[in-house]
Amino acid sequence: MLVDTHAHLQWASFDRDREEVICRAREVGVENIVNIGFDVEGSKKAIELAEKHAGVSATVGIHPHNASQLNQDVLNVLRKLSENPKVVAIGEIGLDYYRNLSPRESQKKAFEAQLSLAEELRLPVVIHDRNAHADILEILSRLKGKMKIIMHCFSGSREMAEQCLRYGFYISFAGPVTFPNARRLHEAARMISVNKILLETDSPWLAPQEVRGKRNEPAFLPFIAKKMADLKGISMDKLAEATTKNAREAFQLS
Ligand code: NI
Repeated sequence: MLVDTHAHLQWASFDRDREEVICRAREVGVENIVNIGFDVEGSKKAIELAEKHAGVSATVGIHPHNASQLNQDVLNVLRKLSENPKVVAIGEIGLDYYRNLSPRESQKKAFEAQLSLAEELRLPVVIHDRNAHADILEILSRLKGKMKIIMHCFSGSREMAEQCLRYGFYISFAGPVTFPNARRLHEAARMISVNKILLETDSPWLAPQEVRGKRNEPAFLPFIAKKMADLKGISMDKLAEATTKNAREAFQLS
């Protein structure tokens, strides 16, 4: 079995077939899905979906794109939402200097505020990092050992991966690792010890090579698992077993 540690099934592109999407995932062995919040509405919908389906969990958080929305009221809403037993982490939170949809200063503020919330609630954090490696590592270095940190859709270099491992972070791989020209990612993946690797689809985005350009869904996770097994030089069974164990530990899934 496999765990998709990062999907956004609350997204509108799943409105017509959400139930079938979850069934298809189960049919190919993806038995757990962590459905990730990105704003208040998305977090609420993630929880609703998790409440309806065994094997689906939720996270709550404000994505860096929406960082300007974060204020004390919103933080209180997130705190309240996180009391739901289906909530397993705060996320996704972080910095995005590629699209800069919120000003950098408000991104940093929102990031720090939500990290404090996670610390207070003793929840793991799911980190979004796009073109912000240095700032992300600087901020997170202060929290190493204090909470479980999951680097979602890892896009850094081998050196960055080494730093994350020294800090004890989990490193999650998505569709881009299946792209033939992603040499830098392949190099990082080969180096990372299998007991820190997580798998994710980031559905509906980033479909793997075999289905590139399509709407992504958790049932496509085996393509990513296969590529990771090849890069690590281990069997698919071994890779599945290790990454499932990691996901259960990271998110305390039952
Ligand atoms: Ni995401």
